[in-house]
Amino acid sequence: MSRPRRVAASLLVAVALTSCSGKTAAPPPHAPAGPVPGAASAGDPYMPGAGNGGYDVQNYDLDLRIAPHAEPELAGTATITADATEALSRFNLDLTGLTVSKVTVGGSPAAYTRSAGKLVVTPPKPLPRGRFVVSVAYSGTPREINDPLLGKYGWIPTRDGVFTGDEPDGAHTWFPGNDQPGDKATFGFRVTVPRGLTAIANGELTGTGTTGGSTTYTWRERDPMATYLAMVDVGRFTVRTGRTPGGIPIYVAIDPSVTTIGLGRLYDETARITDAWVRLFGPYPFGSTGGVVDDAPVRFALETQTRPEYVAGIVADPTVIAHELSHQWFGDSVTPARWSDIWLNEGFATYAEWMWREREPGGVPVQRQFDSRYSQKESGDLWNVPPAAPGRGRMFGRAVYERGAMTLHALRKKVGDAKFFAILRAWAAEHRHANATTADFIALSERVSGISLGRLFRVWLYGKGRPANW
Ligand code: ARG
Ligand code: ZN
Repeated sequence: MSRPRRVAASLLVAVALTSCSGKTAAPPPHAPAGPVPGAASAGDPYMPGAGNGGYDVQNYDLDLRIAPHAEPELAGTATITADATEALSRFNLDLTGLTVSKVTVGGSPAAYTRSAGKLVVTPPKPLPRGRFVVSVAYSGTPREINDPLLGKYGWIPTRDGVFTGDEPDGAHTWFPGNDQPGDKATFGFRVTVPRGLTAIANGELTGTGTTGGSTTYTWRERDPMATYLAMVDVGRFTVRTGRTPGGIPIYVAIDPSVTTIGLGRLYDETARITDAWVRLFGPYPFGSTGGVVDDAPVRFALETQTRPEYVAGIVADPTVIAHELSHQWFGDSVTPARWSDIWLNEGFATYAEWMWREREPGGVPVQRQFDSRYSQKESGDLWNVPPAAPGRGRMFGRAVYERGAMTLHALRKKVGDAKFFAILRAWAAEHRHANATTADFIALSERVSGISLGRLFRVWLYGKGRPANW
């Protein structure tokens, strides 16, 4: 649900028409360009090649049959409803690995080719602007990503199933789509697994049915979601559902082999923290909250929409749960369109983590957490990487997380508590379910506080060296 505009083709036509004006009649004022190929990338320099132009996805319906440790592990059909933002002769979907067996557009077979992370689809007739439906049948065993900095992510086999954790670019290893944060869409999941296993996805569980040896779980995420926040987690789980004291539906699940946290504590902390963040940040943006703890061999937790994912080693610290749940407002509901703005996710979630640490018994005041970092005079990572332009390699580094959080604390000290929390609530409310940029945040902060903040943000977000005056 976004619009990266493509202007190159219409510009070319305009130039061609004017340059032969000697013979041709003046072109009609808004000469429609003929159908063009959709752009092959969203143009994000941090993720060259990822995402596509020419259309805006409205909904994904993922019908997945998952057989852990079998070959292939995955067979699926992705049905994607999108709006063409210009007339298209062909368009691209992101997809890496896997075998495509059939593509239809509007129900008719379409031609397709594969190249470097893309499925290139040529419909039988060019698509006019507006709504279309593309369906892709595919199968295979997705390959996990092993990044030198981030470690493993993407599609990760576990002892009893499979875990998916995709930020920033793992989603297209298991479903085709527009894999960039600027194009959010609703999702339906229909996941069929061997009987005895549970399949968990984003949103709300809308049905379960067992036939023969397999069980199908259907899940629906009714609010727009970026592809990197989509998840399916399959395995043995104990599950608890209910409502938080504040009334939000909650679904939590734990792999029974995990011993670092119990189901009761995961449930209680998730409920308590969700409600606390509602009081601080404003209405909960989605239909449900929750969490899943699996025994996946990864080193991260992830704020997958409505249902963060944790692994045994890191869930025991409740500030991790506070961090991932705060992302539901900051990152999931209000999502950066460009990865260079990732501090809008991680700086905010780290600040939430500091606020939770302050509230815990024997809590450390936020000011002290700021001071202990500020006193690290020689910390190159913190002071030489600007949080709002960290570079691809430092996207998930200390400056984005910690200096990002310090930026918010500097803002809070400048404008005072009342205006600071009014800024956070206005940010969540005004950009709810949409995409936003650092420039949007600066403008909103100045408007809500009535204070000129150019220097503060310049020094904290874009400067090199430890900020001294702001
Ligand atoms: N967003 C996650 C967090 O809350 C970090 C994800 C990093 N990505 C990865 N593939 N390890 O901190
Ligand atoms: Zn985070």
